Amino acid sequence: MTQDLWTTVDHYMADLFVAPDPALDAALQASAEAGLPAVHVSPNQGQLLTILARSVGARAILEIGTLGGYSAIWLARALPPDGRLITLEANPRHAEVARANLARAGLADRVEVRVGRALDILPGVAAEGHAPFDLVFIDADKPGYVTYLAWAMRLTRPGSLIIADNIVRDGKVINADSGDNSVQGARRFNTALAAEPRLLATGVQTVGSKGYDGLAIALVLPE
Ligand code: SAH
Ligand code: DHB
Ligand code: MG
Repeated sequence: MTQDLWTTVDHYMADLFVAPDPALDAALQASAEAGLPAVHVSPNQGQLLTILARSVGARAILEIGTLGGYSAIWLARALPPDGRLITLEANPRHAEVARANLARAGLADRVEVRVGRALDILPGVAAEGHAPFDLVFIDADKPGYVTYLAWAMRLTRPGSLIIADNIVRDGKVINADSGDNSVQGARRFNTALAAEPRLLATGVQTVGSKGYDGLAIALVLPE
């Protein structure tokens, strides 16, 4: 009943605020046909990512956790023509679907999907001089979040945004004794986020077509 209402209101808002985009619809369809899990952000959340990226005038974006490239399309749509999104994906099959989806959206020139575990790829990204990124979106394996935050701090500048998905997990995040690695990962991440003096951070609970979860949003402060 509650989930039904969240879903209906989510659709109501998406119908109002989210312009139809055949490339985004096609991305979801191709991802489903390829058997990818439907854990992508919702259309309204995608629109929020675009708004936040445009608000900071993002020209360089880093995403950790590509899946089928749905959130990557939303983020890349916020970039200027010479902007760049680098998105990291451990699963080669997911990356392949994402590349096709991004190409269909006309974003192949702006987006680079790198295959491998994020922790293996991030040192190279840092060494290649793509940083500072104006926005980092963390959405891969939850136990890795706290380490991804440390990388995000290294790869951003004052004024950058660091955003993380799935920090509430149906409310399970308040359970300090949880045996769920993803919940413990989110807890460690939230604690580290709160303790970082160079960040102004908050958590936003979200409900909608993707259930009950939450986003962390943090602004990198001047040194
Ligand atoms: N951001 C996507 C959803 C990502 S789902 C969207 O909203 O459209 C999480 C993704 O992270 C999965 O595709 C999973 O394969 C990937 N992943 C898991 N562990 C990873 C790791 N260590 N490094 C990189 N990607 C990882
Ligand atoms: C799940 C949801 C996500 O948004 C994600 O990035 C990974 C996993 C999930 O519900 O399992
Ligand atoms: Mg997610």
